[in-house]
Amino acid sequence: MSSCAHMDPSEATDRSRERSRDEDSPSRGDKPSPAVAIDGPAGSGKSTLGRRLAEAVRLPYVNTGLMYRAVADRALKREIDPDDGPALAEIGGEMTFTLSPDAIPSLLIDGEPPGPALESAAVEGVVSRVARHPQVRTVLRAIQRRLGAGGCVMEGRDIGTVVFPDADVKIFLSATPSVRAGRRGRERGGAEEAVASVTERDALDARTNPFVPAPDAHVLDTTVLSSDAVFVRALDLVRTITEGNRR
Ligand code: DC
Repeated sequence: MSSCAHMDPSEATDRSRERSRDEDSPSRGDKPSPAVAIDGPAGSGKSTLGRRLAEAVRLPYVNTGLMYRAVADRALKREIDPDDGPALAEIGGEMTFTLSPDAIPSLLIDGEPPGPALESAAVEGVVSRVARHPQVRTVLRAIQRRLGAGGCVMEGRDIGTVVFPDADVKIFLSATPSVRAGRRGRERGGAEEAVASVTERDALDARTNPFVPAPDAHVLDTTVLSSDAVFVRALDLVRTITEGNRR
């Protein structure tokens, strides 16, 4: 929790306004299966945890960062200005986001598994600007709610606060910037570039989603915890909370 910035009151108000403006209800009705929200900044370990957790509890796994990346990638290909919110939202609305028919369903983009282009430097360079537009967020948020309606492990930045504020389990991963940059460097090659890009992206991402956990989120600091330790704690939380909800 200590590495998270504090949300200023105007941001909190913006977020609740965003929620009430939203026509697509965040409610998951009678909640047939649990929703597990994993939020946190770049390189905090969300994807590693999300995938393992989804497999362990046999729920679909949805990485929402890939959805913003897919819109950014398409915008780059079509030479659409990353500051043109309406045009970007149109792209988001044209694309299809579905779940694969695997044992652990995961995101398909236009019927295909997400490819390496979504992790390219070009996409990294514009995705924060693309994700900033309320028009884009509204389109993707409605799709995220549909994808997760039957239960899911969903990772992103605003899952426990905006997409599924009634999620059964909310986990917020934090880690120091240097540890996160080190992880991105190992994943993508080029440690120094990674430090610069994580720092820059943190600043841009924080304008859209301040690094503040939902009040009822469980914060796990991955600076010192190994990915196995994070997984064991998260799994324990999911099992304890979902079993308690069933009683
Ligand atoms: O988690 P990631 O680094 O793959 O996310 C890519 C970008 O999308 C990042 O700039 C933050 C943004 N994002 C967002 O605004 N909301 C989400 N739910 C997920 C990602």
